[in-house]
Amino acid sequence: MARPAQPLPASDSAIIPLYRPDLSGNERKYVNECLDTGWISGQGSFVERFERAVVEYTGAEHAVAVSNGTVGLHLALHCLGVGPGDEVIVPSFTFVAPVNMIALTGATPVFADCRPSDWLLDPDDVEQRITSRTKAILPVHLYRAACDMTAFVALAAKYKLLLIEDAAQGVGMRLHDQHVGTFGDVGVFSFFGSKTLTTGEGGMVVTRDADYAELLRRARNQGVMPGRIYWHDCLGFNYRMSNLSAAIGLAQIERLEATLFRKRQLAMRYKRALADLPVTLQEPIFGTASSEWLMTCLLPEGTDRELVRAKMRQDGIETRPTFGCVHKMPMYAAQERLPTAESVSARGVSLPSYPGLTDDDVDRVTSSLRGAIEAAT
Ligand SMILES: Cc1ncc(COP(=O)(O)O)c(C=O)c1O
Repeated sequence: MARPAQPLPASDSAIIPLYRPDLSGNERKYVNECLDTGWISGQGSFVERFERAVVEYTGAEHAVAVSNGTVGLHLALHCLGVGPGDEVIVPSFTFVAPVNMIALTGATPVFADCRPSDWLLDPDDVEQRITSRTKAILPVHLYRAACDMTAFVALAAKYKLLLIEDAAQGVGMRLHDQHVGTFGDVGVFSFFGSKTLTTGEGGMVVTRDADYAELLRRARNQGVMPGRIYWHDCLGFNYRMSNLSAAIGLAQIERLEATLFRKRQLAMRYKRALADLPVTLQEPIFGTASSEWLMTCLLPEGTDRELVRAKMRQDGIETRPTFGCVHKMPMYAAQERLPTAESVSARGVSLPSYPGLTDDDVDRVTSSLRGAIEAAT
């Protein structure tokens, strides 16, 4: 059965969608404030308030709100001076956005494999791929796990490389008590509708460097020179976040701890229920306080994943396959094999993981998965 292009409609209560944002806090009140005052574009107090809240929550020094995570990655790379002639090492097993944004700067993405335990960028494989042209390493935090940032910080220092964290999926996740996205030179979050914290569309670039933050702000806003209207002294874009989105973001961050609490409860229930199924779960490294963004498991070798997904769909449950390996995609088409990335990409299924799920929903999902695996192996 074909994969749905859109998330399933929220009105169909018989269906358990993959994700459904919880907008039951101050979202309406704050959005109405924008509508009442007319501040609906990229200026307005909610943008700054949301940026300050992200600084406070993550411990980053500076936060720059942008219109989505993808442009946040482009802005981060561009303002670090990544460009033609540079190589950036990135996992092949990732959502495609970071790779495309490296390519957009004119730099070359160099694909590395991931680790079998946590499915994330493998520092040993990264080290093998460092050349005199390597400018940056770009680890991507995925699903329920944080990249091995201790190893990447050490590698970046040893080879004098930039460290750019794609923390699009990582809001609420800490490693050794430090929020992901704050280990490297820059980190980028996404606030798409299916993320732990959403603004509809939106993103945030965080950094500890004040000059770089200033450059990010200017490039986000057409490169306009401070204090001089319609005069632009550096290359820039319109990557601003709207005040409407920031209003939603502020309401979301107010309730983030409650959201995380519920997601962690659900993850525990999933883990208990999945323990006697022949599936493999991602194993976050020691020291991870997971945000439990998306419960994802690997099916046994040889299982027909599309059949499993189709059967679950018949039971009214939406699932997603894991990301396609980017090194295999036509724009990058590398001949080499990255065995772990290819295996995780081929075998993974993500299960509904939103905070409004009930315990019974989780039981329904896991019993449907059990039946589907039995039918498909
Ligand atoms: C790992 C990763 N990077 C980047 C992005 C891009 O974020 P956005 O959809 O906000 O542009 C996503 C979005 O899902 C993602 O999962």
